Amino acid sequence: AADVFTYDPGFTSTASCESKITFIDGDKGVLLHRGYPIDELAEKSSFLEVCYLLLHGELPKAPEFAEFEKNIVYHTMVHEQFDRFFQGFRRDAHPMAIMVGAVGALSAFYHDSTNIDDPAQRMIATHRMIAKMPTIAARAFKYSRGQPFVYPRNDLSYAENFLRMCFSVPAEDWTPNPVLTRAMDRIFILHADHEQNASTSTVRLAGSSGANPFACIAAGIASLWGPKHGGANEEALNMLKEIGTVENIPDFVKGVKNRERLLMGFGHRVYKNYDPRAKVMQKTCHEVLEAVGHSNDPLLKVAMELEKIALSDEFFIERKLYPNVDFYSGITLRALGFPPEMFTVLFALARTVGWIAQWKEMIEDPSQKIGRPRQIYTGAPLRSYVALDKR
Ligand code: SDX
Repeated sequence: AADVFTYDPGFTSTASCESKITFIDGDKGVLLHRGYPIDELAEKSSFLEVCYLLLHGELPKAPEFAEFEKNIVYHTMVHEQFDRFFQGFRRDAHPMAIMVGAVGALSAFYHDSTNIDDPAQRMIATHRMIAKMPTIAARAFKYSRGQPFVYPRNDLSYAENFLRMCFSVPAEDWTPNPVLTRAMDRIFILHADHEQNASTSTVRLAGSSGANPFACIAAGIASLWGPKHGGANEEALNMLKEIGTVENIPDFVKGVKNRERLLMGFGHRVYKNYDPRAKVMQKTCHEVLEAVGHSNDPLLKVAMELEKIALSDEFFIERKLYPNVDFYSGITLRALGFPPEMFTVLFALARTVGWIAQWKEMIEDPSQKIGRPRQIYTGAPLRSYVALDKR
């Protein structure tokens, strides 16, 4: 791991900030959270433990984790009045539109954790965000289905609680499936944080003005929604459905090479190698499909063949285009029972810990000033006003 820390001096001169949370080496396809490789965390840790690691910098000892888990469980419910907020949306509203609105409104309900100068309030806001996102995301899902909301339970794990709030209905009790629960937890780990991506940079910029943490997270959700960012998992599945069969891949690839469309789930601003999260996601995809008795999902065959063709084609090789975290996530999330419009909501749920950890790191940095990106002006030179009748 020592050699992955070789920074390119040119790169540091353009860095937007310093951070101790996540390290990416795009050329080597390395992703570390507080020094721990993502594939190790995905295999050996749990999402809540990774939340603690991202927030506090170290893996928790047993008593620390018990205390942290208790604080998260304590905040999983949302204010009863908050539930009425959902009623204002159309039932066919995109769940991400609901998430942006609902999370932005949290500061109207929890103003006792919006004073960012108070460390205790900052910590409560952090716990509330991590704890309430599954409850809000599940409500957005239930609302879009016209089904009653399901309350969180304190005796279930983070991922199990979320799956139950999504799929339990009054008419039939939801039975947990440990393989699917483990897969959900691992998918959350894979999406937890990713350095200064577009949505995290949005959260930092919003937070640098002193805006309350709930409003900053809502800004991050809005940025993540874009199809070139978190919205890519929904677009990647739509693309695989459109291709349909392996026989249609050559024509599709021709369209990509003619710049008629993008290969969704491929390419990355930083990774010029295989996204390490994509490898774990592909393995998880196989596990979930097997657990739900759908190992022969035709879309997985299309995805794997598409990857094989792309990775051997000069167009993609010379542009260093590899699968990213979104390439296999859509097939996996669909097998877990989620419709495509929920995929980015799940991404936002998991990324909330990364956003809030980076927000907290920035707020607690005494040298931090308000963000003010500069520009290169390319507009008109100085000139005088001309009256309307003279133009
Ligand atoms: C995420 O930043 C993060 O960390 C984000 C993220 C996170 O965890 O927060 O990792 C999550 O957003 C992953 C990315 C998900 N998006 C997609 O899968 C959408 C498809 N990908 C593309 O939109 C694109 O790859 C981007 C936006 C991700 C990156 O775009 P760039 O920076 O323009 O890519 P590039 O500079 O490496 O492009 C090099 C060339 C260009 O062609 P040329 O003009 O040089 O000939 O490759 C082309 C690009 O046009 N290209 C693609 C392509 N991605 C880049 N061509 C076809 N299909 C693609 N997917």
